Amino acid sequence: MTEFSRTPHPSPVPEERRAAIVADPGFGRHFTDHMVTIPWTAEKGWHTPSVVPYGPLLLDPASMVLHYGQEIFEGLKAYQQPDGSVASFRPEANAARFRASASRLAMAELPDELFLASLSELLSADRAWVPPAGGEESVYLRPFMLATEVGLGVRPSAEYLYVLIASPAGAYFPGGVQPVNVWLCTDYTRAAVGGTGMAKCGGNYAASLLPQAQATEHGCAQVAYLDAAEHRWVEEMGGMNLFYVFGTGESVEVVTPELSGSILPGITRDSLLVLAKELGCEVTERRISAEEWLTGCASGAISEVFACGTAAVITPVGMVKHNDGEVVVGGGNPGPVTMKLRDLLTRIQRGTAPDTHSWMRTL
Ligand code: PLP
Ligand code: COI
Repeated sequence: MTEFSRTPHPSPVPEERRAAIVADPGFGRHFTDHMVTIPWTAEKGWHTPSVVPYGPLLLDPASMVLHYGQEIFEGLKAYQQPDGSVASFRPEANAARFRASASRLAMAELPDELFLASLSELLSADRAWVPPAGGEESVYLRPFMLATEVGLGVRPSAEYLYVLIASPAGAYFPGGVQPVNVWLCTDYTRAAVGGTGMAKCGGNYAASLLPQAQATEHGCAQVAYLDAAEHRWVEEMGGMNLFYVFGTGESVEVVTPELSGSILPGITRDSLLVLAKELGCEVTERRISAEEWLTGCASGAISEVFACGTAAVITPVGMVKHNDGEVVVGGGNPGPVTMKLRDLLTRIQRGTAPDTHSWMRTL
């Protein structure tokens, strides 16, 4: 692979404005000065990797992505470390999931080395955008790939464009670590076995917007989906995986829905299964029904519920609402296991707890 070419932005965001954005970034509202582009064609493969000024993409109206939705993406974060370096959390896992998503959508697979190099190249160009160490802020990295061949035949595109953009990020939910209400959705499903639920493709998120609007109408921040076959088993939320804490004190079991084939295999989920065990919890991946969730919270058998993902980190669930009522979870407050796991995970990510699993990669 040839070196990345670099074209500096002719008029980057002025320093004062950038500092104001980085101090209070919100989520996904502001973007850094540059982006990476790497095209793929059947003849040339991946070629001419470039760091270029952030800006609009020029697309032919007949580009296949605009008609048949052949698009995938990833989400990961980079954190300033106490020694001033910048590191991201398990980017190799995102690279592998990006390849898996590409395979499911019949797209060209980007080699992991190129995925990882693109992160380093962009962060080296936009190093000034990385929020200082020690806070909750980070840089959210959004790699994505789209089908760019021109034509209306329904078949895999013969041309793709990989793009990486970056955005300084604070809390995903406006309330920060405050518990959120969750809408247990029985009118729609997110994905079925054999479909694209395990891939990170834009279409899954398009399909989630109507149920998400329903959740918002009911005062909920997120939708929890059930399986498509029986409408009984909890799958995940629109952009996060779910965990349940059974019991309290010394004997705690942490349960998360097993990977059903239609759930996105979250990297945060996978990491928390490891960390919860290290904190002395029993850890189980199994099916959990909506009924067990509701009755468990009502009886107190389930003491905590939380959502996890790159954007959301770990967010406590304070209440679950559904068509026939609502149940408060753990008194509506963040629980001790949730907060302990959150503290440990975020300290590893920020370089203030030992990285015993070599999860952090300096970019
Ligand atoms: N589930 C869905 C549908 C998601 O979009 C995400 C976010 O990426 C997750 C789960 C959590 O995955 P991860 O922890 O890898 O960010
Ligand atoms: C993430 O956590 O990275 C996600 O992709 C979830 C959401 C922002 C789509």
